[in-house]
Amino acid sequence: MTATVNIVIKSLYACAHQCGFCHVLHVPRNISYMPTAQVKETFDRIEEMFEGRRVELEMSGGEFTQRKDAVELIEYLRTKRIWWSSLVLDTMGVYLADSGLARALGALFDKANVSIHACDPAMHTAISGSATHFEDLEQGLGNIFRFFPAVFTNTSINRLNYHRLADIAAFILRTREASRQAPLYCLYYLPVHREYGAANKENRFRIHGEDNTDWLPPAADLPRVRSQFERARFLLARRSAPAVLRDFNLPACIQHAISGTFPENAFGLPNFMVDCYFTDFAHPISERHTLEDVYPSRFRRTKTGECGNCAAAEVCPGMPEGWLARGYEAKRLDESEYEAALPIQVLNQTLFGLFHDAVRTRRLLQGLQLDWAGVAASFFDALCGEVSSIGDARSRISRLPVAERASVLALQLRRMANPDCPALAGLIEEELGRFAGVACCP
Ligand SMILES: C[S@@+](CC[C@H](N)C(=O)[O-])C[C@H]1O[C@@H](n2cnc3c(N)ncnc32)[C@H](O)[C@@H]1O
Ligand code: SF4
Repeated sequence: MTATVNIVIKSLYACAHQCGFCHVLHVPRNISYMPTAQVKETFDRIEEMFEGRRVELEMSGGEFTQRKDAVELIEYLRTKRIWWSSLVLDTMGVYLADSGLARALGALFDKANVSIHACDPAMHTAISGSATHFEDLEQGLGNIFRFFPAVFTNTSINRLNYHRLADIAAFILRTREASRQAPLYCLYYLPVHREYGAANKENRFRIHGEDNTDWLPPAADLPRVRSQFERARFLLARRSAPAVLRDFNLPACIQHAISGTFPENAFGLPNFMVDCYFTDFAHPISERHTLEDVYPSRFRRTKTGECGNCAAAEVCPGMPEGWLARGYEAKRLDESEYEAALPIQVLNQTLFGLFHDAVRTRRLLQGLQLDWAGVAASFFDALCGEVSSIGDARSRISRLPVAERASVLALQLRRMANPDCPALAGLIEEELGRFAGVACCP
């Protein structure tokens, strides 16, 4: 059980964009629209089901801003007695070129999670498979920076843009120039593998049985993806915007090849895919479907010879078969690098699991002058004690709920000399206190 309930709701699947890598591209759009009353009922159920729990809710789709009732729905949602972590709008941004709409939605949401896959009109047209205008995306993104409290960009790394990741980062930063106050986080992902399913009216130009693996960057160019990602990260860091490669059950070796980091799943730590309720026209919230159940990311995976001796083999979901067919190769992880990364990853995941919201976590922690590597090492020792292998440490840690880990961390910090250590312990204890008495504690 985690501290926060994550929910993704897809109240429609219609979208003016037809991104070829999109994981929901096969869903029929004519029968999948939830009428206003059904969406409001879903909000009512969320209020009842998760009373006393902290909630992060993502209004996704399809394209939510295409709904005529978008503002009405979120105004209704804001009347619900929900303990918010955050309310997030997933959007491709184009409709927010309308300043009135952007202003109204920006006042209701805590964050926008805006897809930015391109940095010029030709790339925008090719990737979005649409007739929408890049200028509207630029205007929409500008409005998002003006009106939303925090901005997350979400960029798929694909065959049409992998060589321009730095230009895309520059475009994001340029568009933000006029309104730099909103916190910015730039997220990236390799498209979760999926097949498109039966042809229907909306995807009739696609070949039945086709999948999205041909949207991957060419395997031979992974070093170029890495150098572009590094360059983008550098540009963004200069403007205090973190760049993060997201873990949608990515094989650790592929994540490492691109970003030099390891995903949570490589350490057996729960990620967004397992930890998130999902609801749409066919999956009522009361049935508690998870994102992974409805949009499986772990199907058709395989382990290769390289995986045999890999330090992550026990927990890694393996390589998508379709990726192997495209020349992607599993590569055994460097064991010492992997072991060295575990303590800091556990510390980060514990703090994020407790405070949950990235914007809030950063605000709380940014003033603290700590030797984070030292804190991570002593926290790790306290959690694991004497263990004989990294596998034992991993399984011991992944069995412990976040709250239990956070309590251990607070105790450790109380014993440390640096005056900011008890300050962090105080923040952790205060947060744990907010959950005290809640039936499902973190
Ligand atoms: C399906 S879109 C719907 C919201 C909105 N229309 C948009 O494009 O952002 C929801 C999120 O999923 C991301 N996404 C699309 N295809 C994906 C895939 N194959 N794997 C992982 N994320 C994907 C998008 O970038 C977007 O952030
Ligand atoms: S187990 Fe295989 S696919 Fe997973 S990280 Fe290791 S080498 Fe890569």
